[in-house]
Amino acid sequence: MVLSGKRILLIISGGIAAYKSLDLIRRLRERGASVRPVMTSGAQQFVTPLAVGALAADHVFTDLFSRQDEQDVGHIRLARDCDLVLVAPATADLMAKMANGLADDLASTVLLATDRPVLLAPAMNPHMWSNAATKRNVATLQGDGVHFIGPMAGEMAESREAGVGRMAEPLDIAAAAERLLDTSPKPLAGRKAIVTSGPTHEPIDPVRYIANRSSGRQGHAIASALARLGADVTLVSGPVTIADPAGVKTIHVERAEEMRDAVLTALPADIAVMVAAVADWRVASASDQKIKKHPGESIPTLALTENPDILKTIGHHTLRPKLVVGFAAETQDVDSNAKAKLERKGADMIVANDVSPTTGIMGGVRNRVKIVTRDGIDQWPDMAKEDVATKLAEMIAERLRRG
Ligand code: C5P
Repeated sequence: MVLSGKRILLIISGGIAAYKSLDLIRRLRERGASVRPVMTSGAQQFVTPLAVGALAADHVFTDLFSRQDEQDVGHIRLARDCDLVLVAPATADLMAKMANGLADDLASTVLLATDRPVLLAPAMNPHMWSNAATKRNVATLQGDGVHFIGPMAGEMAESREAGVGRMAEPLDIAAAAERLLDTSPKPLAGRKAIVTSGPTHEPIDPVRYIANRSSGRQGHAIASALARLGADVTLVSGPVTIADPAGVKTIHVERAEEMRDAVLTALPADIAVMVAAVADWRVASASDQKIKKHPGESIPTLALTENPDILKTIGHHTLRPKLVVGFAAETQDVDSNAKAKLERKGADMIVANDVSPTTGIMGGVRNRVKIVTRDGIDQWPDMAKEDVATKLAEMIAERLRRG
């Protein structure tokens, strides 16, 4: 865990998004970080120091001129005795103070005194975010090396307005903190990767479609693992119910043809990992209208036509990535089918798994795979899909390093 043992000074300033900071404290702590909270007087109008302190299991610092706090810790130590200063929510007012070097309360003084990385999660009304003064302040802060996460587009809590200004979600803020504090090696820095994941939905008519049991868990985990090793990852995902991985550019598609187009648009790349369970066939002419059931009429038959093979297209493309990895979900003759697939699809590696219903792999959380290359077959033990992803990403980095 990247945040394990890390000390985060969390400054909460006065906005309604402060209610999400309570959850953020939990997310940071469950990732192993300790959280020391500072609250502005505005923040205390929205959430109480009692709630913040209870969740953080630490004293809440609120007052620059508290004799007790200054004796015990002091604002300079507060600013330095941490690995990251995180401001969530960061109001327009606090950002304006920071951009101008003002220090008239504990939060702004700590921000002026710190020599640690600073991450802001702004939250404000969309008009305040797009105001020329705020834009100037954001540009100044970025120039000063301050990091930002969000704000996001969406509904505002306090009004019926929508626009850019919502604070990023706690999980995304925690992920941004992880990225900033991550000092692990980045062997894939400067490399671009394309990953496909999930099923495809092939329409029959506007309400019906052909699908499969793929959850996207394995593909999404591989996209995350490649990003953790420093790759610039584009994930092309079919319809799934799991969240977009943090730190990855995710493109959502439905049909195989859309997936192919998105993958080709993302070229050139160094790595392609085609994990999606792409439907082999689609309905030849999907109906524009819902196909109706009329009493006494014959049952409709579906004429199918072949979908583009994305892996094969990539494997034989003039812009073929240096390393092309395919998956083989088989229910029989796993080894021989995977070997044949390596050649047919122009891949360097096939990750083969037995998806017979008894294995529970398709749609499940664990996987037992074989790595099939031209050098041979390597059976990996049963592992969580995240662990398969980490090991595969390391193997990809190693193969690229060796050329
Ligand atoms: O031939 P088969 O469908 O078993 O091959 C599986 C591999 O090919 C997977 O990597 C899958 O993502 C990819 N594939 C594809 N486009 C298709 C069918 C499969 O990219 N139309």
